[in-house]
Amino acid sequence: MDKFRDRVAVVTGGASGIGRALALAFAREGAKVILADLDDPGMAEVAQTIKSGGGQAVAVRTDVSDLGQVEALAEKAWQAFGAVHILCNNAGVAVSGGLEAATRKDWQWVIGVNLWGVIHGLLAFLPRIIAQKQGGHIVNTASMAGLIATQGLGVYNTTKYAVVGLSETLVKDLKPYGIGVSVLCPMGVETRILESERNRPSALRDSDAKRGEPVPLIGRTLSPEEVAAQVLAAIRANQLYVITHAEGLEPLRHRFQRMEQAIPKA
Ligand SMILES: NC(=O)c1ccc[n+]([C@@H]2O[C@H](COP(=O)([O-])OP(=O)(O)OC[C@H]3O[C@@H](n4cnc5c(N)ncnc54)[C@H](O)[C@@H]3O)[C@@H](O)[C@H]2O)c1
Repeated sequence: MDKFRDRVAVVTGGASGIGRALALAFAREGAKVILADLDDPGMAEVAQTIKSGGGQAVAVRTDVSDLGQVEALAEKAWQAFGAVHILCNNAGVAVSGGLEAATRKDWQWVIGVNLWGVIHGLLAFLPRIIAQKQGGHIVNTASMAGLIATQGLGVYNTTKYAVVGLSETLVKDLKPYGIGVSVLCPMGVETRILESERNRPSALRDSDAKRGEPVPLIGRTLSPEEVAAQVLAAIRANQLYVITHAEGLEPLRHRFQRMEQAIPKA
C-alpha cells in the first residue's frame, strides 16, 4: 500500500503509546482512523487531536480479548467509513516474573489480550477486508520478545513468539488477496507498557502473586513516534518484519548461531 489518503485504519490499543502514535501518523497522512481501546479518556484525547488537525476519527470502546466486542468494532468501522484497509492489532499488556511463579490468571490475561486479541482482529475483520477486494495491510504488534526470549518475561514472550509465527504464516496466506502483513518487533519504547496492570480485569487479578522486579530494558528507548514512522514505511514497502532497534541484531545472530550449532553435521 503506497498511499494512506482516504484509507481507513483501525488501531487497537490506540489510546496510548505506540497505538496512539500510529493513529496520529495515519491521520497526518490523510487516513480515517478508528481507535479501539479500554481507555475512554485516552481515546477521546487522540480523537480530538486528529479532529483538530482536520482529520476524521471514531473511538470505539473495545476489549480485544472478547470476540463479540471486536466483531462489534468491525461493524462500527464499516458503518462509520464504509471500508477498512489497515488493521493494526496492537493492544498489548505485559507481566514480569519467572515462569515458575506465573499464575493461571497471568496466563489467561496476557494470552487473552496479546494473542487472542490478534486472533479476534483477524476473525472479525479479515473476511470483510477480503470481500472488499481493495487489498489492505495487517500490522500485528509483537516485540523483540517474540524473537529473543528474555528471562523474567516468559508469559509475555510466549504470546509474542506466537504473534510472530502467526504473522509469518499470515503473510503467505494473504498474498493471493493483495493484503500485506507486517509484524512489529520493537525493543524499548517510551510508553505505559510497564503500567499494564491498570488494564487488568479484576477477575484476573492475583492478590497473592509473587512478582519479580520488572525486567530492565536493554538498548535504546525509542519514542512511539519513531516506531510509528517505521511501521508506515514498512506498510508502504510491504515489508514483513519491522525491527526497530539495531541493538537487536547481535542477540538475533547469537540465537541463530546456537540453532546452527544444534544441527547435526553431515
Ligand atoms: N513499549 C515497549 O517497550 C514495547 C516493546 C515491544 C512491544 N510492545 C508492544 O506494543 C504494543 C503497544 O503497547 P505500548 O508499549 O504502546 O503500551 P501502552 O500501555 O502505552 O499502550 C497499550 C494500550 O493497549 C490498551 N489495552 C490494554 N488491554 C487492552 C484490551 N484488553 N483491549 C483493548 N485495549 C487494551 C491500553 O489501554 C493502552 O492504551 C503492545 O502490544 C506491546 O506489547 C511495546
